[in-house]
Amino acid sequence: MAFTLSPLPYAEDALEGAISARALSFHYHKHHKTYVDTLNKLSKGARYETMKLEEIVRATSGKKSDAEKKVFDNAGQVWNHDFYWRSLTPEENSPSGALKEAIGQSFGNADRLVEQLVLTGLEQFGSGWAWLVSRDGRLSLEKTADAESPMAKGINCLLTVDVWEHAYYLDYQNERRVICRHWRRY
Ligand code: FE2
Repeated sequence: MAFTLSPLPYAEDALEGAISARALSFHYHKHHKTYVDTLNKLSKGARYETMKLEEIVRATSGKKSDAEKKVFDNAGQVWNHDFYWRSLTPEENSPSGALKEAIGQSFGNADRLVEQLVLTGLEQFGSGWAWLVSRDGRLSLEKTADAESPMAKGINCLLTVDVWEHAYYLDYQNERRVICRHWRRY
């Protein structure tokens, strides 16, 4: 079965103030969709055709051949973007319950988490992603390059920030810091 562009969980203008409708539309309909279309072309008639997206990402992660790397890049970017859109919400809210407690243990408080998430995104040299992950019940931050993700290595992901230039350039030009800071909305 062909892979599909997952529907956005909100309207394209729902994140205005943080991400404009124009930037979101380009990101979703051009960049994200291209990864889906390319994955469908690459997987047609191949063993990947019957695999789940996560299985493809894990099966091709770290492989050396150009063919497998191409599949990984596109499958990884489809998964990362699906996760990215679902990580965002137009609601202004604060962590509560077990999440608040875990953030307190690992970072002190939510403001400190955001500060460190911004630094993690800024420290990623070139295209990539900043992640909040859970390892053995403890929260931490990671950065990955290109289409990589902690999920590919079996690590539980909680949030991500897309720090590819296509995620922020239309709205903020070279100011990657701004897109990371808007991560207060979770
Ligand atoms: Fe992106």
